[in-house]
Parts: sequence; structure tokens; C-alpha cells
Amino acid sequence: PPTPRADVHGRRISYVRISVTDRCDLRCTYCMSERQTFLPKSALLSYEELERLSLFLMDQGVKTLRITGGEPLVRKGILDFLKRIGAHVKTGRLEELTLTTNGTLLKDAVPDLVAANIKRINVSMDSLKPDVFRRITRGGDIAKVIEGIEAAQGSGIKIKLNVVVLARDNRAGISDIITWAHGRGIDVSLIETMPLGDDIAGREDQFVSLRDVVRDLSSFWSLEPLTEKTAGPARYYRVAETGGKLGLITPLSHNFCDDCNRVRVTATGKLYMCLGQDDHVDLAAALRADPTDAGLDAAYTEALSHKPRRHEFLIESGTVRGVGNRTMSVTGG
Ligand code: GTP
Ligand code: 5AD
Ligand code: SF4
Repeated sequence: PPTPRADVHGRRISYVRISVTDRCDLRCTYCMSERQTFLPKSALLSYEELERLSLFLMDQGVKTLRITGGEPLVRKGILDFLKRIGAHVKTGRLEELTLTTNGTLLKDAVPDLVAANIKRINVSMDSLKPDVFRRITRGGDIAKVIEGIEAAQGSGIKIKLNVVVLARDNRAGISDIITWAHGRGIDVSLIETMPLGDDIAGREDQFVSLRDVVRDLSSFWSLEPLTEKTAGPARYYRVAETGGKLGLITPLSHNFCDDCNRVRVTATGKLYMCLGQDDHVDLAAALRADPTDAGLDAAYTEALSHKPRRHEFLIESGTVRGVGNRTMSVTGG
């Protein structure tokens, strides 16, 4: 198999996140404003383009494709697309196809996801309390998400929970989520809220450093740092009492960019070298201009030649610095 390409800082890019839609059936307060509008379908990469791009990336040594959004399961035809890409897991051309989802449409999709050779799914679930969940997601039904998780686990898919920690809404409920999830063989990743999108109120007062959350948790749990090196931004702990894993994704309080293994493709086909930087190349244009992969190759090489060393997110008293013109749902969370 091809060796992953290196960026300008010598980091091997083996992991690509692809957003297949900016649409979502929920509107989490930290992700979208109430006024969020969605792109017309014509602005998205077509499935043919997504498939061509995925094959190209496999040829560049990319081992993992993670499909995200928005909510990937709301896009019509997504399950057939996943099956076409997942077929390459069987042949070994791709190591792993994974999905990040809010879980609301998961239950009915499970048989097709199994057929697509998807073995791990990350589900975003910020609270177990129906009313808190409804408030954070602006109307979501937690029962649907839990049904989806159970169906996926019942079919042998490994689930991980993503929890964005918000000072006012769910900080007090993190311990309960750990108990619930670890009791079901589900690992948990806690995430610091990142400043993407101009239009989102309350960034600063909802932000909480995971250093402080770990301090909260340490009075209930024994957290043993795991030293094993994992690709990706999370640092992991073992919770001695449950045996489960707790990941911390700390873009604001503890930078992890030195080991970055990834780039991301937006729903509109822009390749962003970093979630927290605006530099990007237009893969959609390269796909459309050139029926051979030469144009894609030039664009990808260009991107790797100036992948930033690190993101520039900052949330501090009085200052929030992020990327304004781009939301997580377009970019791919
Ligand atoms: P696995 O390790 O494959 O399970 O994936 P993951 O934990 O990286 O992916 P997931 O989709 O669960 O992402 C969890 C959170 O981490 C999301 O909020 C992402 O936006 C965030 N995240 C993932 N990669 C990066 C990154 O490179 N930089 C930053 N700043 N955040 C990231
Ligand atoms: N900061 C941190 N995480 C976010 N997500 C969405 N928006 C943000 C944000 N502004 C998370 C979702 C999901 C993951 C893909 O990205 O909750 O778990
Ligand atoms: Fe990589 Fe950027 Fe994420 Fe840092 S913030 S880990 S450089 S994508």
C-alpha cells in the first residue's frame, strides 16, 4: 500500500475527514445559530466526485476516511455511497471507513452501515437528560439516539461518544455520561468548544477548559493516563473504576498539532489543511477541470506544502479568536 504523503512539517497524512453535507436535523447551539441557512444541493460535491476523490486519497496513502457533516445520514443516497467506498476496506485499499453522526437516524441505517464495512461510529451526545439534550440540540430526542446506539452495538459496531462540554448546560452531567457509556462498553471523548462561525452566541461563557473538567472528575474517578500513542487529537485516560476510556480533545487548553495526521474536505469540496486556519485549496475545481487525476494531484501537493503548523483558536477572558466565515457543519466536525 502507498506510504502516506508528508506535509511541509514532516507529518504523515493518513486520515481524511469528508463532510458530505452541511445539513443537519439538529441545531446544536455551539455548532449552528438559529439563523443558519443551508447550501443548495448544487454547491455540494456529487457522489461521483466524492468517490473519485476518495479513490485518489487512497492512492495518496490515506488509511482512514471519516465521513461527517452536518449530519451525513440526512443526505439522500448516502448509504449506497458508503457501501461503494466501504468495498475498498474488503480489498485492503482502505484500512477503515468511519462515520461521525448525531445518531438520530442511525437505527434504520445500521444494516447498510454493516454492509459498508463500517466498524466504528462516533456519536455526538452531549447529555443524557432529555430536557438538556433537547435544549442543546434545539429540539432533538435523546431516545432516538439511544435506540440508534443500541442497534449499532447489537450489530457489532463499536461506538464512541463525543461530548462537547459546555459550562452552563452539561458540565455537571459528565460523570453520569461516563457511568452510562462505560457500563455499555462505550468510550467517551470530551471536547472543548471551538470558535467556528461568527454567528454563535455565548462562546466565551459556555467555554470550559478540560483541565478544570478533569479536576471535577478526579474527585469521583481514578483517571490513569494512557501513554500509548494514538493518531489524532485525543489524549486518553483509563477510568480505573469502569475500565473504560476517556479521551480529551483540548484545542484550546493543550495543543496537539505536532502529531497532526489529517486534513479535511468540506461539503463543497474545499480541502482545509487545518480546522482552525483558513488556508485551503479547491478540490472541486480540480476535479471538474481535469478528468485525469493530475489536477487533483497538483492541488493536494500544493495543500501539503503549506499545511499550517498549528491552529489559531483562542478563547481567553475578553478574547475569542477563531474562524468566522465557516461553521463546523460545512467544514466537517
Ligand atoms: P477517531 O480518533 O477516529 O475516533 O476520531 P476523532 O475522535 O478524531 O473524530 P471525531 O469525529 O469523533 O471528532 C471528535 C472531535 O474532535 C470533533 O469535534 C472534531 O472536530 C475534533 N477534531 C478532530 N480532529 C481535529 C483536529 O485535527 N483539530 C481540531 N482542532 N479538532 C479536531
Ligand atoms: N466545537 C467543538 N466541537 C464541535 N462539534 C461541532 N461544533 C463544534 C464546536 N464548535 C462537534 C460535534 C461532533 C463533532 C463532529 O464535532 O459535537 O461531536
Ligand atoms: Fe491538525 Fe489543525 Fe487539527 Fe491542529 S487544529 S490537529 S493542525 S487540523
